[in-house]
Amino acid sequence: MQNMLGKVAFITGASSGIGAAMAREYARIGADVVVTARRKERLDEVAAAVRELGAEALPLACDVTVDGELEAAVGEAIERFGRLDHVQANAGFGVAGPFHKLTVDDYRRQFETNVFGVLRTVAATREPLIQFKGSLALMGSIAGFIALPDGSPYCMSKFAITALASSLYFELRPHGVAVTLVAPGFVTSEIRHRDNQGALIEGSEDPVPPWLSMDTDVAARQIVRATVKRRRQVIVTKHGKVLVFLQRYTPWLLRAFAKRTGVSGRKPAKARTSS
Ligand SMILES: NC(=O)c1ccc[n+]([C@@H]2O[C@H](COP(=O)([O-])OP(=O)(O)OC[C@H]3O[C@@H](n4cnc5c(N)ncnc54)[C@H](OP(=O)(O)O)[C@@H]3O)[C@@H](O)[C@H]2O)c1
Repeated sequence: MQNMLGKVAFITGASSGIGAAMAREYARIGADVVVTARRKERLDEVAAAVRELGAEALPLACDVTVDGELEAAVGEAIERFGRLDHVQANAGFGVAGPFHKLTVDDYRRQFETNVFGVLRTVAATREPLIQFKGSLALMGSIAGFIALPDGSPYCMSKFAITALASSLYFELRPHGVAVTLVAPGFVTSEIRHRDNQGALIEGSEDPVPPWLSMDTDVAARQIVRATVKRRRQVIVTKHGKVLVFLQRYTPWLLRAFAKRTGVSGRKPAKARTSS
């Protein structure tokens, strides 16, 4: 992969899962990394791993749902490194359940992180990205192409990201900024261990079997490579590619499969019950 020595990557949601793995991947290809999320102690661990790989790391506590925090983090990043080349708008979580069991506040909470959090990230990083002709990656999902029952808040939020990436692709191109829509299928992380408030449920079970879930480092490598290559879109995981293909060319087949099997979106994480 292209060397990114002297370049700087800014990642939201870098305290675990795909974001933390992307931080390590950027370090491997020579970039310095600004890692942001709410859990500072976890960010310090990620920053230590980045330094062990020979790159500089700046861990910054930053909540994407709070106005002004991203601007403050970007200000600190520029002060420390003098530039921003790659931005991964990655922070997110999932609100799950059938519509009749959810409230408007559940949808609002989902959008506040997955949609408005991404908008705040774009707003705070747009100018340095234009200045350094950088790359902006927006974390969508296969759920931004296919909406299953019991997953409407998450799917709605990711459909919004698909649309935002498409608009920004045209708007930022004339300024020399590449926009990449990132759409993973199942990847191993903490996402399916969180409840509808976004709280981590220690010891909860991942409903996705390990064989179907892509290794986090493999996913991060594919995402960083696509961002470096300034691709418009990257669909991560084989099952994700198949599903998006089917949705595009034979949506009736997917609908028939979903109706027949009763497949649905995931359930909110619950503590494991001892038997
Ligand atoms: N894993 C998958 O199967 C999968 C598939 C498709 C898309 N995605 C997307 O990938 C992204 C990363 O998720 P993941 O799978 O790596 O899950 P994860 O391990 O739970 O990571 C989510 C990250 O987002 C951060 N975050 C959550 N709310 C935040 C907030 N308000 N402000 C700042 N940071 C916040 C979390 O850190 P703190 O709690 O420390 O703030 C954490 O670092 C998400 O956008 C998710 O929708 C994941």
